[in-house]
Amino acid sequence: MKTLLVVSGGDAPGINAALYAYTRAAAPNKDAVVGTMGGFAGILNEIFIKLFPGVLLPVMALGGSFLTSSRVPVLREANNREQVVKILADQAIDNIVLLGGDGSLRHIPPILRDLGIPCIGIPTTIDNDVPGTEQTIGFDTACNFAHHTIDALLTTARALPGRVFSVETLGGNSGMLALALAHVQSADAVLVPEYEYDRYWLAERVELALKWDESALIILSEGIPNARTFPEDVQQLTGHKVRDTRLGHAQRASAPAHQDRFLAQQMAQAAYEALRGGTRWGTIVSQGGQIKLYEGDLRDLPARLPDRSIYNRINGLK
Ligand code: F6P
Repeated sequence: MKTLLVVSGGDAPGINAALYAYTRAAAPNKDAVVGTMGGFAGILNEIFIKLFPGVLLPVMALGGSFLTSSRVPVLREANNREQVVKILADQAIDNIVLLGGDGSLRHIPPILRDLGIPCIGIPTTIDNDVPGTEQTIGFDTACNFAHHTIDALLTTARALPGRVFSVETLGGNSGMLALALAHVQSADAVLVPEYEYDRYWLAERVELALKWDESALIILSEGIPNARTFPEDVQQLTGHKVRDTRLGHAQRASAPAHQDRFLAQQMAQAAYEALRGGTRWGTIVSQGGQIKLYEGDLRDLPARLPDRSIYNRINGLK
């Protein structure tokens, strides 16, 4: 069996660990593994790198991605699709393992399926928003990075009472990351793109927090409509200066934490076993602590939404 590893979308801590684990799983059977650079564009450019554990061992504990990624939707073009089929056949590649986030895993595998190219997806994104899986590779590390920063901010909050802090997380259109952080940090308010909020309610919430905690911590996801102007808006509304921190892409960059390495190891092993066992299409998911193969189309599953009861509890809403 010859497998091509492709990384698509944003990088996430643990991708390198998954690449390594896949080659480790394939080695005992002498199954060939190659990787490409720049996502699917790399196939069109005929870039194929022979991968084996020794190549990936030095990077397995690093963030980022040894195989570069891309967000260019090259498979949308009919010409490109034909080319990809031809090149993969010329290279005697039997199947693809696709490491990517919500967008990549929902949209690329159905195209490959139509083309008759077997593909197993592995969810890698800090956003934790891939349907069907309770956890994605990279999420835990991104949370740990954010906790480290927020803990540091709270040091100042305690030393200088009366301050209002806002922390903006990545997450794209998903509030899963922001909600998880707000929950664990006992934030005074959390704002996510999925649920609307009232600015006057937020102003009251800030006043209450200042009264109870002598500081206020608001965590917001970058996808809320006014994220860019949020600190100034709150400042105008409440009269309190808002000390804002944007975690930005640094949130994606740490070395993978234990949980993400563990997930990477398990998911890569499961992807290999599925392909080796003859499965042609599917996604590896984590459900109830178990790693499973989901053989359906992710587009048929409901979107992952931040838990409404936790959201309400953090925000003091009914
Ligand atoms: O991969 C997901 C993600 O990290 C989102 O959280 C974020 O909105 C987006 O990628 C940023 O994309 P880019 O790296 O292309 O700026």
